[in-house]
Amino acid sequence: MSYLPSETRYNSIPYNRCGKSGVMLPAISLGLWNNFGGEDAIENQRNMLRRAFDLGITHFDLANNYGPPPGSAEENFGQILEKDFRSYRDELIISTKAGFKMWDGPYGDWGSKKYLISSLDQSLKRMNLDYVDIFYHHRPDPDTPLEETMGALDQIVRQGKALYVGISNYNAEETKRAISILKEQGTPFIIHQAAYSMLNRWVEDGLTDVLEREGAGCIAFVPLAQGLLTNKYLTGIPSDSRAAKEHIPFLNEKDISNDVLQKVKQLNEIAQQREQSLAQMALVWVLQEKSVVSALIGASKVSQIEENVKALENPQFSKNEIETINAILK
Ligand SMILES: NC(=O)c1ccc[n+]([C@@H]2O[C@H](COP(=O)([O-])OP(=O)(O)OC[C@H]3O[C@@H](n4cnc5c(N)ncnc54)[C@H](OP(=O)(O)O)[C@@H]3O)[C@@H](O)[C@H]2O)c1
Repeated sequence: MSYLPSETRYNSIPYNRCGKSGVMLPAISLGLWNNFGGEDAIENQRNMLRRAFDLGITHFDLANNYGPPPGSAEENFGQILEKDFRSYRDELIISTKAGFKMWDGPYGDWGSKKYLISSLDQSLKRMNLDYVDIFYHHRPDPDTPLEETMGALDQIVRQGKALYVGISNYNAEETKRAISILKEQGTPFIIHQAAYSMLNRWVEDGLTDVLEREGAGCIAFVPLAQGLLTNKYLTGIPSDSRAAKEHIPFLNEKDISNDVLQKVKQLNEIAQQREQSLAQMALVWVLQEKSVVSALIGASKVSQIEENVKALENPQFSKNEIETINAILK
């Protein structure tokens, strides 16, 4: 059946300007790292993407290696795009990345121009797109000169294969250098994709200051700590959760320590007092940090996306709530 998006799709989510660029990002974006690969049911993927768009989520984030197997999330996304979203391409911000191992040999990893240019060409083919809206270098490469990596990003924009470029997982110092090189080359840097959640606050230690000074935005990935910042692990590991899935190696039983659970329980109480779920509170919390324009969530079910978007109905924190949360997170 052909898909007609909801006519009210622009009524529920605020769109935030990404730094000093022209790009507006939805306060909540959807990433396809897990649950969108070759081992996951495509109908569920399709339902999640449709519902997300119906709710106003206009930004979908991918990477060359998302799957498993690597590349399959882009392939699946390309198929769904063809069926459901082709007429809405201009209403979407689609991003992809390269920087982690993608193919064998010396040219399928890290940050050389050889790798980035050919990887983006492969991504565009898999998704059947002429261009992506944002292309990221996925992680810093200690061995390739930053001038070469940023030169590749500059070339990609000039070729029209990406409209904007960004970086991910660079620290504050590396980010400063990358921005300065891109400025010299004449391609503006607009966005940093950084891990940020109540349980991982490293960006507050300099990175968001740099981004704010430079007029760039931050999109916060893993804002729910892969599901830890929800109430799902409070009484054990549900069989349909990420921690229980063998084909997803990124969250395991050992990550759900007593120490983390103690914090999560206390945070859950504050969320209840706010009449929000813990997931909802965790999402609006990251959006308070300066320069953070969007919380980049993952999901395994439509209902999670619906719950998460509702977070935006109660985005403010009292001074007292912030102090209590800080004390728990110390
Ligand atoms: N740049 C990078 O290096 C990098 C690295 C990692 C991720 N990312 C990006 O960030 C995106 C998000 O990562 P993530 O999936 O780890 O983010 P996350 O939002 O922290 O975790 C998502 C997981 O939390 C659970 N969840 C979500 N909403 C829930 C709710 N309302 N109630 C209960 N559980 C809920 C689901 O787990 P279950 O599956 O257990 O249901 C879901 O798969 C990725 O898709 C990717 O685009 C980027």
